Amino acid sequence: MRLESPLRPLRIAVAGKGGVGKTTLTSLLASHFLAQGRGVLAIDADPSPCLGPALGFTADELAEVVPLSAMEGVLDERSGGRTGVFRMNPTVADLPDKLTVAKGALRLLLLGSVEHGGGGCFCPASSVLRELVRHLMLKEGEVVLLDLYAGVEHLGRATADSVDAMLVVAGPNPRSIATAHQVRRMAQEVGIERLLLVGNGIRGAEDAAYLMEGAGDFEIAGMIRLSAKAGPAERAGRALYGVDRRAAMDVDVVAAAVERSLTS
Ligand SMILES: Nc1ncnc2c1ncn2[C@@H]1O[C@H](COP(=O)(O)OP(=O)(O)O)[C@@H](O)[C@H]1O
Ligand SMILES: [Mg+2]
Repeated sequence: MRLESPLRPLRIAVAGKGGVGKTTLTSLLASHFLAQGRGVLAIDADPSPCLGPALGFTADELAEVVPLSAMEGVLDERSGGRTGVFRMNPTVADLPDKLTVAKGALRLLLLGSVEHGGGGCFCPASSVLRELVRHLMLKEGEVVLLDLYAGVEHLGRATADSVDAMLVVAGPNPRSIATAHQVRRMAQEVGIERLLLVGNGIRGAEDAAYLMEGAGDFEIAGMIRLSAKAGPAERAGRALYGVDRRAAMDVDVVAAAVERSLTS
């Protein structure tokens, strides 16, 4: 008889420069963990959301979801962002149905875009989001994935408390690598301890070498190869994991590295 140790819940944030592949990586990770038989809550924290389609949800399915930012009372700052359901340490299953859309063991929650307090500030919604992630009671093996928006100014202490690890995506180019280092510095300043770099859009050995060189002492979890199937999958509204075996293999390596890093 083999004794299985219980799978610990995971909360992973994905950050990086705009267009670098955050949503793609989040979708691949979601599929990876689902394939492991784990429950996944994927959260699209980008004000212009695209995680839903990347996970294979249809426009009709997504039209039903009320973004967190549009939830009545949720953005009440007087309560420090913790209102209603979030005050009672909900489980993923307790999240109001209208707030999420589900497919099997996968649930998607949208942060939505907010114009708040006249200033168009995104902060109240993101602080509510962090509180939610922080207070969610996760069951054995459940995984929360946070697809963050490009900026890093929103990172705060609560982000650190709400995630176990942050993955920073970079492509084989100087700008996204510079942004990755900047994100890492800011994340460290707010106390996020587990930070791993993920290369994306890697065409071959030269790209991989460039990224490794640029990473310096930033630990690399793995690299996702450039996929010719990404465009067609996107247009067909299908999750990349089921369409591209190489992308699936690559993200399996990334996820294993993240889990190793969290148990070391
Ligand atoms: N490994 C990859 N191979 C091919 N295309 C990719 C890859 N990763 C991302 N893309 C494409 O690049 C575009 C931007 O990726 P996305 O994940 O939306 O970036 P972000 O969320 O960081 O803005 C999308 O059209 C996506 O399909
Ligand atoms: Mg995105």
